[in-house]
Amino acid sequence: VEETSRIVLEKPIGSDLASSRVVNDAVGRVFEERQIFRIDHYLGKESVQNLLVTRFANVFLEPIWNSRWIDHVQITVSEKLGVAGRGEYYDRSGALRDMVQNHLLQMLCLVAMEPPTYVGGDPVRDEKLKVLRALVPLAGSDVDRNTVRGQYTTYGEEIGRPSTTETFVALRAEVQNWRWAGVPFYLRTGKRLARQESTIEVVFKEPPHTMFPHSEGVATPNRLTIRMQPDEGMQLHLTAKHPGPGGIRLHPASLDLSYADAFDERSPDAYERLLLDVMRGIPTLFMRRDEVEAAWAWVEPILEQWERTAVEPVRYHPGTDGPAAAALLPARDGHTWQE
Ligand code: BG6
Repeated sequence: VEETSRIVLEKPIGSDLASSRVVNDAVGRVFEERQIFRIDHYLGKESVQNLLVTRFANVFLEPIWNSRWIDHVQITVSEKLGVAGRGEYYDRSGALRDMVQNHLLQMLCLVAMEPPTYVGGDPVRDEKLKVLRALVPLAGSDVDRNTVRGQYTTYGEEIGRPSTTETFVALRAEVQNWRWAGVPFYLRTGKRLARQESTIEVVFKEPPHTMFPHSEGVATPNRLTIRMQPDEGMQLHLTAKHPGPGGIRLHPASLDLSYADAFDERSPDAYERLLLDVMRGIPTLFMRRDEVEAAWAWVEPILEQWERTAVEPVRYHPGTDGPAAAALLPARDGHTWQE
């Protein structure tokens, strides 16, 4: 092929590690890695790219962005829609392959990665790869303990046959490295849920001791919310003093950055940005082969254990927050999902 030729791959890139290698080998026989652009459209979202800028173009977060000050992280992609005419594909895939292997793990990488030497193709992808490789493997009984599979009750009706494919998954992951050891990362995603909403919640630790013995109200832990949709933006949740005489009253308040308010420009669609980058030959927001394969390598033992134990998905009603069992994952550690 021509030196300037490029190829764009959209997921699914395989359905497990072996089949993703088959795809990557086949494409790799014709194109060099630098000509291959594997899209994860979440990386094209403004708020997801802004996470890189917020972390690495500012100083205030970096000193506290670690297990000493961060209690846990939650990543939620909640969809109101069902499988909307894609049943044929979706039923062979399920939520773990469709969303977690790619979008949710990519977001986890951007939260957890070390600062790259500069924000460019290989430095960013090298750091994301290290995160994927540092994920504590979930296999065997760890899968039973740390994952929840769900299916909405009208799914079979929607696709026209009974099925055990999951339309919801929640899981608890850990990144075993110096920065993150001991910090749970809770991930969840599902279809036909109550909300159409994608967020990353970084929940900080409590202050070391209570300094306001006679105050009313309680200090709630700081929390950084990155809202990917709707209404892209960021909120930093603080405890503030409620105005007025007569003692200290602690009250939750937030610093709010809404893209729509802060900037006049419209946010481009993720694919607009990504396809332009393909034409410009900028690989930063695309997945390198080793990343895709590392993500499959982590996901695969979960799929295997589900298959081995033939665990049926827990049914949940459309328009709810998914199976109640999903609440138990954070609850076991004394946490709750942020709604
Ligand atoms: C796709 C999945 O990759 O992402 C779909 O295949 C899902 O099942 C979609 O609905 C969600 O993307 P977004 O940008 O609408 O959150």
